[in-house]
Amino acid sequence: MTDRPDSTDAANSMWGGRFAAGPDAIMEAINASIGFDRRLYAQDIAGSRAHAAMLAAQGIISDNDAGAIREGLLTVLSEIEGGDFPFKTALEDIHMNVEARLKEIIGEPAGRLHTGRSRNDQVATDFRLWVRDQCDAAISGLRALIGSAMGQAEAGADWVMPGFTHLQTAQPVTWGHHMMAYVEMFGRDLSRFQDARARMNESPLGAAALAGTGYPIDRHATAQALGFDRPMANSLDAVSDRDFALEFLSAASICAVHLSRLAEELVIWSSAQFRFVSMSDKWSTGSSIMPQKRNPDAAELIRAKIGRILGANVALFTVMKGLPLAYSKDMQEDKEQVFDAADHLMLALAAMSGMLSDLTANTANLEAAAATGFSTATDLADWLVRELGLPFRDAHHVTGSLVAMAEGKGIDLPDLTLADMQSVHGDITQDVFGVLGVHNSVASRQSYGGTAPDQVRAQIARWKEKLA
Ligand code: ARG
Repeated sequence: MTDRPDSTDAANSMWGGRFAAGPDAIMEAINASIGFDRRLYAQDIAGSRAHAAMLAAQGIISDNDAGAIREGLLTVLSEIEGGDFPFKTALEDIHMNVEARLKEIIGEPAGRLHTGRSRNDQVATDFRLWVRDQCDAAISGLRALIGSAMGQAEAGADWVMPGFTHLQTAQPVTWGHHMMAYVEMFGRDLSRFQDARARMNESPLGAAALAGTGYPIDRHATAQALGFDRPMANSLDAVSDRDFALEFLSAASICAVHLSRLAEELVIWSSAQFRFVSMSDKWSTGSSIMPQKRNPDAAELIRAKIGRILGANVALFTVMKGLPLAYSKDMQEDKEQVFDAADHLMLALAAMSGMLSDLTANTANLEAAAATGFSTATDLADWLVRELGLPFRDAHHVTGSLVAMAEGKGIDLPDLTLADMQSVHGDITQDVFGVLGVHNSVASRQSYGGTAPDQVRAQIARWKEKLA
C-alpha cells in the first residue's frame, strides 16, 4: 500500500446517499486496493471508453456526454502516465479514483458513465485484460527462450556429454538433445499460455453487478471494442470467476518448474567439479571475500522464482475456494500476487534466455565426462544380444561382470583387453570395441526422438518450422 489511510468523516460520494458517516480509518485501510490496483489504470480507462461509446451508440446517453467522457478519460490517462494523478485511499480503488477525477474534470456527464455497469463487471474486465496481456508477454518471452535453447542445440547437435539418471552416469547423449528437451518443455509452456489466453478472451463487461441490466446495452459491441472474442454468456459467472488468473498462474507455475530445472543444471554444470559450461561475465557475480569465485547468481535466482510463483497460485486457489456466487470482496485479494508472479516470471524468462545464449559449453570436458562411468555398458550389452544372440538379461549379467572387472583394475570398459573380455564370455570378438566409444553410442540411438545427431537435427528443423 503506498497511500496512508486518511480517516474521513464525509460519507463516500459514490454511495453516500445511504450513509451518514465515513468509514473508520482502519476500515478504509483494509478496504482500499488503490495501492496496488492502480496498475490496472490503462485497462480501466479502455473499458470505460468502450462502455461510454456503446452507451451513446445505443442511445442510453447523449453523444455530447459520451464525447465529454471520452475526452475526460484521455486527460485522466495522461495525468496518470505523467505521474501527477491524485490517487486517494478514501476512493478505495482504481475504478472510483478514475471516475471521481473524471467528475472533477468534466462535471455532470461523468455521473452517466456508470449506467448499466458495476464495479463487479468492471474489475473482472480490467483484470482479464491485464492477465491477457501477461499471457502475450509470457508467449513472447518463451519464444525468445526457445530461440536461445535452439541456438545451443544447433551449435552442439553432435557434442557428446554424459546423460544422467539419478544424477549418476547413464548413457552418452548429445548436447543438442539435452537442449531440445528444454525446447519441448518450454514449447508446451507456450501452448499452455496460448490455450489459457484463448479461453479467457471473453468479456465480462455488461454483466453489471451480477444479474445483467435493464438498459438496452450491446455487450457484443464492447466485447469487440476490447478485443474479446465474445461476451461471457452468464452474468453471474462473469463477475464471479477468476479461473483465468488461476490458469495463468498454473501455466506460470509449470513454466517456473521447468526454468528451475534448467537453472539447477546450469548451477551444477558451472561448478569447478563439473566444468561442463562457462557462464559469461554478464551473467555471473564475484565474491567480496573469495577472489576465485564466479557465482551463477542469475541461475540460482531463476531456480528460486518458483517459490513466489507457486505461492501466488496457492494463494489465489485458497482465496477462491468455497466462495458463494456472485462477487465477494475476498476477490479483491486476487491481484497483488498475480502481479508479482507475472513480473517475476517475465524477468526469469528474459534472464534465462540471455544467460543461455551467452553460455559456452566446454566440449572437451563434456566428452571426457561422457566417456567415464562405464557409460557405454548398455552398448556392450546390446552388442552381445545383437552379435552373439544372448538374451538381454544374460547380456546384462555378462556386461555387469566386465564392468566389475574394469572397476577393479581402475580402468574404463574400452581399456579392457580382448583376453579380459573373453575370460567372461568366450565368444566375444575384437569387433566389440567398435561399440564402446561415445560417438558410436550416440550415433546408434536413431529411434524417433533419440539422441543421435541426425534425430536432433530433424527435431530442430521441425521446431524451426513450427515457430516460423
Ligand atoms: N476493488 C474491488 C476489487 O478489486 C472492485 C470491485 C468492488 N466491488 C464491490 N461490490 N465492492 O474487487
